[in-house]
Amino acid sequence: MTLYSFFQHLHSGFRYIVLVLVVVAILGAFIGWIGQKPYTGANRKLNLFAMISVHTQLLIGIILYFLSPLVQFSKEAMHDKHLRYFTVEHWVMMLVAIALITIGHSKSKKAALAEGKHKAVAIFYFLGFIIILAGIILIPRG
Ligand code: HEM
Ligand code: HEM
Repeated sequence: MTLYSFFQHLHSGFRYIVLVLVVVAILGAFIGWIGQKPYTGANRKLNLFAMISVHTQLLIGIILYFLSPLVQFSKEAMHDKHLRYFTVEHWVMMLVAIALITIGHSKSKKAALAEGKHKAVAIFYFLGFIIILAGIILIPRG
């Protein structure tokens, strides 16, 4: 096992932890927002852990960016959809998604009322989730 394959598998597998935590946080936030429920300690922890999971995925992704043979800066690579995807599109999309989730967490923390706390997570995490999902679906295969 090389350092590259270690981080590749870590990053690939970690996507499921990210997806599950973010989806559960979004569901909890929509239920709390629409159902006008209090913002509980469980909500707060879930929102924090979901955000930490995307930050961790970011850190692993940055390490991978230096190790992956799929990241190449050449004219030829830009004409290969697989190489260009991982050199350019992937990290740009994922970084936007991670920024949205981080903003949502921060807005939720600053909101005074339970409704505002739920709403910030519901909207920003949802937007981030859509972009993460799109990014995964867009991975060129074959
Ligand atoms: C390259 C890697 C990373 C970047 C660029 C980054 C960036 C950020 C930024 C900009 C914030 C501020 C959010 C705010 O103002 O509310 C933040 C908060 C935070 N990040 Fe990261 N992060 C990274 C990696 C990590 C990792 C690896 C972890 C944990 C394993 C982590 C855990 C946290 C926590 C716990 C907070 C504070 C949440 C709170 O306000 O309660 N981050 N990070
Ligand atoms: C929520 C954030 C992210 C998710 C869910 C995610 C998910 C994935 C997935 C599913 C793959 C394909 C793995 C496979 O082929 O089995 C991948 C590959 C990759 N990701 Fe991410 N990623 C995220 C963020 C990032 C970021 C921010 C970077 C760089 C700064 C990055 C760099 C890479 C690289 C370089 C590869 C190609 C690895 C290889 O050589 O096969 N990722 N990512």
